Amino acid sequence: TWTTGSVVEEQIALIREQVGNKRAICGLSGGVDSAVAAALVNKAIGDRLTCVYVDHGLMRKGETEQVEKDFVAATGVQLKVVDASERFLNALKGVTDPEEKRKIIGREFIRVFEQAQAEIVAEAGAHGESVDFLVQGTLYPDVVESGGGTGTANIKSHHNVGGLPEDLQFQLVEPLRKLFKDEVRMVGQELGLPEEIVQRQPFPGPGLGIRIVGEVTKERLDLLRDADAIAREELTAAGLDREIWQCPVVLLADVRSVGVQGDGRTYGHPIVLRPVSSEDAMTADWSRLPYDVLARISTRITNEVRDVNRVVVDVTSKPPGTIEWE
Ligand code: XMP
Repeated sequence: TWTTGSVVEEQIALIREQVGNKRAICGLSGGVDSAVAAALVNKAIGDRLTCVYVDHGLMRKGETEQVEKDFVAATGVQLKVVDASERFLNALKGVTDPEEKRKIIGREFIRVFEQAQAEIVAEAGAHGESVDFLVQGTLYPDVVESGGGTGTANIKSHHNVGGLPEDLQFQLVEPLRKLFKDEVRMVGQELGLPEEIVQRQPFPGPGLGIRIVGEVTKERLDLLRDADAIAREELTAAGLDREIWQCPVVLLADVRSVGVQGDGRTYGHPIVLRPVSSEDAMTADWSRLPYDVLARISTRITNEVRDVNRVVVDVTSKPPGTIEWE
């Protein structure tokens, strides 16, 4: 019979069998799948696993710290953090087209990740050890979708920003291949991972980069991070996290509207709230949030976030609207 404890035990044994006394690498994205996969492998082979976290500077408030501090504290995992935020900002300079943004973020991500990977391999090599395995948080639905094969490594499932080259020298370790999302969360809980990671709602690999309609700049990212943090705080306080599939918060950076704040006229940007309910993100309906929750979010964002003088709610289902705005 299926119990979370038995899944953990079984996977740890299988990982040990597969990896032997070799070393493994795992990319962390901040999401639940890569975190649980890494925690499992860490439990199986300890510090023969090295995790890599590429900070692209497009995460929401507190998320990088969750990985750097809370995840490490909960697992004791060996973590290499690469702060690449400047590099991503430079690469995104002047870019407004959504698919172009995705391409650039994916490309930069792979470059930074591969460089970190090469450093880890070289370091191990200097000690006469080899890194032969790459851990992936592939879930059962991903396996089915991709036709069931393993083979070439693809970090899409972790980072959703593109694939690794075909000539990859690693064998894959995929301890979540038989699990559905809710089972992965249960395994994560069993392994003592922070609630914020285990219960995290979907968040796109390109992060806030595709939630700024217009050019991505540091100032706009900071502004959007503040607005997003307020929305998340209020939704959590209202107990709505389980009801909502996800709630993108979008900055319309290229739009301005007139407002009146304090004793003057303002000409600021709108923030869009996009709360949706969904089963699988293929279709979605807009969430009928309580008016008082919407009112609190709106009041707080317009009071606390500079340059924002309007909050609007997206009431479009999917189709025709996608969940994200870009
Ligand atoms: P859409 O906007 O297509 O989103 O209705 C469906 C789901 O996918 C997420 N999403 C992405 N995830 N990379 C990702 O990893 C992306 O480029 C991307 N675009 C959308 C979105 O958050 C939603 O959960």
